[in-house]
Amino acid sequence: MSKSALPRHVAIIMDGNGRWAQQRGLPRLVGHEQGSKSIRACVEGAMEAGVEFLTLYAFSSENWKRPAPEVEGLMRLLERFLDDKLKEMLKEGVRLQAIGRISELPPICQRKLAEAIAATAANTRLTVVLALSYSGRVEIVDAIKGIVREAREGKLTGEEITPEFFSDRLYTKGIPDPDLLIRTSGEMRVSNFLLWQLSYTEIHVTPKLWPDFGKEDFLAALADYAGRNRRFGGI
Ligand code: IPE
Ligand code: IPE
Ligand code: MG
Repeated sequence: MSKSALPRHVAIIMDGNGRWAQQRGLPRLVGHEQGSKSIRACVEGAMEAGVEFLTLYAFSSENWKRPAPEVEGLMRLLERFLDDKLKEMLKEGVRLQAIGRISELPPICQRKLAEAIAATAANTRLTVVLALSYSGRVEIVDAIKGIVREAREGKLTGEEITPEFFSDRLYTKGIPDPDLLIRTSGEMRVSNFLLWQLSYTEIHVTPKLWPDFGKEDFLAALADYAGRNRRFGGI
């Protein structure tokens, strides 16, 4: 694969855990547990291919509406993920980052997340970005609030506000926009994910449910991307 045909940044909406469990007559949480194992395969695929950033939509702001036992189960899985994966991330050169309203997570998750982010901060092979309590609209509104504050304090004129300036006010400051978005489970929607950043992202939707999504599927999505003709509004 030539360098230009390889996405620098792949974002994934990891969807379909509930349906995977339902189809087997199992509790939804079993689907989430199985789904958390698919992450490993994508991280491996990303490292092998040379992808620089992998952003994973793990929990949306809207997901707090789910029944308490499911939300609690998901938070426990996040904790376990951080406990289990830190060693591997350090060994393999993976840097961890997070986007979203992290302060809304349970304190124990916040602490483990902060520890893993700090411990892996110097790694350079692949950056894995977890989207947690994330909402694209809230991200944009929070950025605007910050800008209004700066303007009120006289630190800013309207002329300075450009798309690049605005991008630097988002959680994703310093991270290039995704080149490729993968959504599993066949749903054709973005569900409040990276609304600003997805402007020119190529989209790959697969009917596979997230727990069934493996390295081969990840590499197939990269191959699909390599065949795309990105025009960015040009000809
Ligand atoms: C994705 O799977 C995981 C999260 C949203 C946390 P779902 O739980 O949305 O699975 P479905 O869409 O109900 O099958
Ligand atoms: C999007 O999936 C959020 C995550 C994968 C974390 P949802 O299952 O929450 O989205 P909808 O409800 O199908 O739009
Ligand atoms: Mg879903």
